[in-house]
Amino acid sequence: MVKWETSLFTKIILMLSLAVVALASRNGDFHYFYFVQQWLGSYCDQRGEKCCYPPTGKPGPEFSIYGFWPYYNDGSFPYNCGGGNFDEALLKPMQDRLRKEWPSFTCPQIGRKFWVHEWNKHGTCSKSVLGEVAYFQAALSLKNRVNILQALTRAGIHPNNRLYPLKSVKKAIARATGFHPWVVCNRNSQGVSQIWQVSVCVNKSGTKLINCPFVPKGPGDCESRIKFPSF
Ligand SMILES: *[C@@H]1O[C@H](CO)[C@@H](O)[C@H](O)[C@H]1NC(C)=O
Repeated sequence: MVKWETSLFTKIILMLSLAVVALASRNGDFHYFYFVQQWLGSYCDQRGEKCCYPPTGKPGPEFSIYGFWPYYNDGSFPYNCGGGNFDEALLKPMQDRLRKEWPSFTCPQIGRKFWVHEWNKHGTCSKSVLGEVAYFQAALSLKNRVNILQALTRAGIHPNNRLYPLKSVKKAIARATGFHPWVVCNRNSQGVSQIWQVSVCVNKSGTKLINCPFVPKGPGDCESRIKFPSF
């Protein structure tokens, strides 16, 4: 009898602590980041969407930062965690680099509001680790280190409107970065699957590339041969 009570008591305690752990892990305590870059040639040539260039005009043919997103190990992610009041003045010293590396191409142009949006939606959820300045700096520093276009062109994969095997694209990026990427495709107006977003995973400090604990599947899945549009 006593034995039974003890085990029930233990079970209840165990369940309570699991609940507490689960709650804590939902409360901004993320596990890793996706560092997401996009190919504008595909963003600007996708079915049913338009892109608008920033006031500085059409950028050069490069991948640009799309997002830096805290994630949970199970592939879900926190968002809009609040409490991280965005202070635009803090980004002044890196504004030129942000304009170049993390531009927005939505229509109408939202310009700097893209950064406010990214901070509010994603950055606030990793603020236990990276404050506003550190968050944007971490993304810029990753952009320097993860050169997708270089990785691809070194493997003979060029933005020339040709189709390339998805496998070769992934392999080229893995060879250059040391880690497997998550490649997301969209479709152009002819319905052709094309390379749009390339993500690598980054440890919780936002500094070190890691193998992705989870690679989401879904509408962004690529065909086995994908187009690399010119831009
Ligand atoms: C992330 O990697 C850096 C560099 O290796 C390391 O110093 C840091 O402790 C790591 N952070 C976590 C949370 O593992």
